[in-house]
Amino acid sequence: MPTTNPTPNPSSSVQRVDIDLGERSYRIDIGGALLDGPECFAGLPVASSALIVSNTTVAPLYLERLSKALSGRYKQLHAVALPDGEAYKTWESLNLIFDALLAHGCDRKTVLFALGGGVVGDMTGFAAASYMRGVPFVQVPTTLLAQVDSSVGGKTGINHPLGKNMIGAFYQPQRVICDLDTLKTLPPRELSAGLAEVIKYGPIADMAFLDWIEANVDALMAREPAALAYAVKRSCEIKAHVVGRDERESGLRAILNFGHTFGHAIEAGMGYGVWLHGEAVGCGMVMSARLSQRLGLVDQAFVDRLQRLVERAGLPVVAPVLDAGDNAGRYLALMRVDKKSEAGEIKFVLIDGPGRAVLRGAPDALVAEVIAASCRA
Ligand code: NAD
Ligand code: GLY
Repeated sequence: MPTTNPTPNPSSSVQRVDIDLGERSYRIDIGGALLDGPECFAGLPVASSALIVSNTTVAPLYLERLSKALSGRYKQLHAVALPDGEAYKTWESLNLIFDALLAHGCDRKTVLFALGGGVVGDMTGFAAASYMRGVPFVQVPTTLLAQVDSSVGGKTGINHPLGKNMIGAFYQPQRVICDLDTLKTLPPRELSAGLAEVIKYGPIADMAFLDWIEANVDALMAREPAALAYAVKRSCEIKAHVVGRDERESGLRAILNFGHTFGHAIEAGMGYGVWLHGEAVGCGMVMSARLSQRLGLVDQAFVDRLQRLVERAGLPVVAPVLDAGDNAGRYLALMRVDKKSEAGEIKFVLIDGPGRAVLRGAPDALVAEVIAASCRA
């Protein structure tokens, strides 16, 4: 995968990453103060109305600024604030978006803007995919996790009590606008959660990026603008590269789920929102690395290196016990519901060399061993 060098003063200008998907191609704009300027919104589909979807935390922070930037573009500009949290990534919240669209008489040209983190982005995208069989939408991600991952690539959806992101659609946005200034108000725990998805790109695709993250993790934790800008840009470049080759995850795209099989089990098993998605992914990456090591794909030094970095990013590395009676059984049952499972066989994204990932199964007994070791690590 081609690498780029960190940009010296990236927050002073808009950087751009292109997602090449033929007629569904779009661009990601990355920079400071983007919400204030109309430039990033130029060229979006023309419509008489738009609906900004946000939540009760993000709307008070950024809705006014986004509304101001969009006010000249749309005759009717509406907004809806969903309840905040992973536990609300549900049919009920999705219906609030449809309620707003219908109550305001929105037509099939109405543009939806997702202003918030991955929860708002995933739900707004799904609403856009299905309202009147599809209306345009724009991602305006305000968490690090959403800027480096969830706003890009067109995976949209909601959770089901029995499984994470089980109901949804592939539906690409018209544009992604990453205003780095919004990260200033992000709670520290959420910043760490986003770093999990940044770290993910190293082991699966770009060891030079992993080296860079190790050297800059303190700067990232301190929210240094240049470090954040490079982390967002490089992450988006890697994701763009993968999605451009496998939009609907028939193969390669599965590598972006490194750490997610264990992680989704943690999220569902603990109850959505108890562990943040990024926290579960961080711990899940260490568990996946441990499984890779037990399968002889990487050495212990690699596992230790990744675990150290995940810890430095402020993320948990000891997995939670999901069932005191049969912990491994509970993990395995939850992981069998994963979308990557085939005929009940769990598939893991494993590291099989520096910067290289593979999707494969593993014997239950070995997985159980990894779970036991990870819960007391
Ligand atoms: P989130 O959307 O719940 O946001 C985290 C918290 O931060 C929320 O409380 C939110 O209100 C708050 N917040 C958001 N922006 C803020 C800001 N600028 N200042 C202060 N507070 C702010 O969580 P997330 O980590 O952004 O996203 C996680 C979700 O993304 C999960 O549902 C996960 O499944 C999904 N996801 C999707 C993809 C994809 O490809 N579609 C990829 C990764 C994750
Ligand atoms: N976050 C995984 C993917 O977009 O495929």
